[in-house]
Amino acid sequence: MKQELCKLADIPASGTLLVPFFGRELHVFRRGEQVRAVANTCLHFGGPLSCDDQELVCAWHGARFSLDSGKRVSGPSPKNSRLMTISTRVEGDALFYVWEE
Ligand code: FES
Repeated sequence: MKQELCKLADIPASGTLLVPFFGRELHVFRRGEQVRAVANTCLHFGGPLSCDDQELVCAWHGARFSLDSGKRVSGPSPKNSRLMTISTRVEGDALFYVWEE
């Protein structure tokens, strides 16, 4: 099954695009030839994240996560925590969330 998240043309070359996701949000971004999507949810207490160059930064208590790996870089989130990555696939001119495949 699949659901369109966004058009590829809308994803910026740097930074992220916020897209709605079942009442929540995802950060969609490019890493080289790949496109990735992670939940806009901090792993400390669920705060919203904003993009700061190569990291996503929590607005509530400042936890930082790597865009490359999703892993916590610093802050109060658990040491080995990693942002939730959403399973996606590019088809035509769009990025889709895919599940049960
Ligand atoms: S909720 Fe993100 S650092 Fe606390």
